[in-house]
Amino acid sequence: MCGIVGYIGDKKATPILIDGLSRLEYRGYDSAGIAVFKDDDIYVEKHEGRLKVLAENLKDKDLNGSIGIGHTRWATHGAPSDRNAHPHTNCSGNIAVIHNGIIENYMKLKEWLIEVNGNGFKSETDTEVIAHLIDYFYEGDLLDAVYKAVEKMEGAYAIAVICKDEPDKIVAVRKDSPLIVGLGKEEKFLASDIPAILKHTRDIFLIENDEVVLLTKEKVTIFNELKQPQAREVYKVTWDVEAAEKEGYAHFMIKEINEQPKGVSETLNRRLNKEGNIELDSIKITKEDLDKIDKVYIVACGTAYHAGLVGKYAIEKYAKIPVICDIASEFRYSDPFIDENTLFIAISQSGETLDTLAALREAKRKGARILSVVNVVGSSVARESHDVFYTWAGPEIAVASTKAYTTQLTAMYMIALHMAITKESMSKEKYDSIIEELKNMPEKIQKILDDYVIAQHLADTQFNNESVFFMGRGLDINAAYEGSLKLKEISYINSFAIAAGELKHGTIALIEDDTLVIALATQDRLYEKMLSNIKEVKARGAYVVAIAKEGNKEIEKSADTVIYIPDTMDELTPILSVVPQQLFSYYMAVARGCDVDKPRNLAKSVTVE
Ligand code: F6R
Repeated sequence: MCGIVGYIGDKKATPILIDGLSRLEYRGYDSAGIAVFKDDDIYVEKHEGRLKVLAENLKDKDLNGSIGIGHTRWATHGAPSDRNAHPHTNCSGNIAVIHNGIIENYMKLKEWLIEVNGNGFKSETDTEVIAHLIDYFYEGDLLDAVYKAVEKMEGAYAIAVICKDEPDKIVAVRKDSPLIVGLGKEEKFLASDIPAILKHTRDIFLIENDEVVLLTKEKVTIFNELKQPQAREVYKVTWDVEAAEKEGYAHFMIKEINEQPKGVSETLNRRLNKEGNIELDSIKITKEDLDKIDKVYIVACGTAYHAGLVGKYAIEKYAKIPVICDIASEFRYSDPFIDENTLFIAISQSGETLDTLAALREAKRKGARILSVVNVVGSSVARESHDVFYTWAGPEIAVASTKAYTTQLTAMYMIALHMAITKESMSKEKYDSIIEELKNMPEKIQKILDDYVIAQHLADTQFNNESVFFMGRGLDINAAYEGSLKLKEISYINSFAIAAGELKHGTIALIEDDTLVIALATQDRLYEKMLSNIKEVKARGAYVVAIAKEGNKEIEKSADTVIYIPDTMDELTPILSVVPQQLFSYYMAVARGCDVDKPRNLAKSVTVE
């Protein structure tokens, strides 16, 4: 998982590449590098560390080249280092390659290349093998050599290649890793993601799997696997790059937390017709289709998986269809019960998560109907699905997902309601009342956001904790999983969430004086049971922060601190109860001096298995 950019035109390539990379750092940021033409040669500069290290090293270099490629890395094969940073070249430095993905058979290829060419390898990466492989096949035609190299490569990749002997072109390939091309007048761009080039053009070609692209400054030609030219419509980007910038907030994460009322409202209201009913134009599943569906699989990773757990609850409760919710990386190897009567729902913010994509393909192969809930328009998951529900969260830049989660929840409630009313498994009255309450959610989220000082104050007094427990029952445990993930990923605190009733079966042994426990107690049905669980941990010395519904004064007698969320239906509470947890995680990370938007070891879009 990495970010790639490329430029070919008349301008200086270096600043364009560096600017593009700065918008792709969310994809990985343990090293960065560029390769540009300089005096008929290829000049490579690459460094371990953030992009600013590379930019600093380029400051005094006079690079006039107007063709180049750039890369920001998230290490897979080979530790982060200058040597393993991209671009990689062949022995003579004739060919430079950048790569996002994994070449699974790279060891075999490397051994073979060493046998035929001798050992000229300088790094431990799979990418360097690509440069040597292209060089091996090069006989004066870069496009041809790339085709021959690709034939030997197994795995996932988006690559871009330049060659010293053909200084008027870039060749790029896409297989299971994202790649887009931007069209300017007398200049062309390539990138892993649109924001990287939006400053320069709004006219985009979305490159499909197994396609090879030849870029010159005048023209872009897309070829299929058989080297036949492919026609492509221009995709016009209508959103603004400013939407992806911080707008005065200290971090993208807090900006995105604050964008949740808007995201939820957009996701909902764009699909409500004049009568207030849900209309899902992009979902073509009919009543007959639904009647045939005997089970639903929801598959996703991380935060999106947590949204799936709530989706499972909603579909089972409203549409009365059994649902299995699975982690994508587990699903693939679990021999799941999928057939043509299965509805498979993939949830993914980026739409590029490889585990989710691979699970989707497996389900499709077995005959399932594929519905995806995706934020990024035109992403791989969306394109490979039969039906797509786009969340309208807008670009999510912070690595820790926030607004994607609440919009995914909104989407899942809407899908469940739509299924229920189509299947006639729910009364119209109940359906209307839930939609009415969903409409109130943006305002209720805003109310929690307005009271952010409560979470901030709590963080200011608790940030020295090295472990935090989250607990809840029923839907609360699902929201607690998400709260716990948020805290650990950005503040590096050892936190985990546990079903409150399960505590006594082992985990309670870890509770001692002043252990911080966040107890979610929003479910009326389970409220008394939660009170008992709070007392259990209090009796062992825990400091308990409860999250409860407004008006519930009783809980103040058991917990040390209570954070209130506005009253709502039990089944919708995760949309609200997650918000104070997001705020708390954010302020904890800030108080600990962590790099909130770019936590260590993580990347925004995980396009490796
Ligand atoms: C956590 C987080 C990740 C993602 C996961 C799936 O804050 O962002 O757990 O939710 O990597 O990503 P998408 O939704 O892009 O498939």
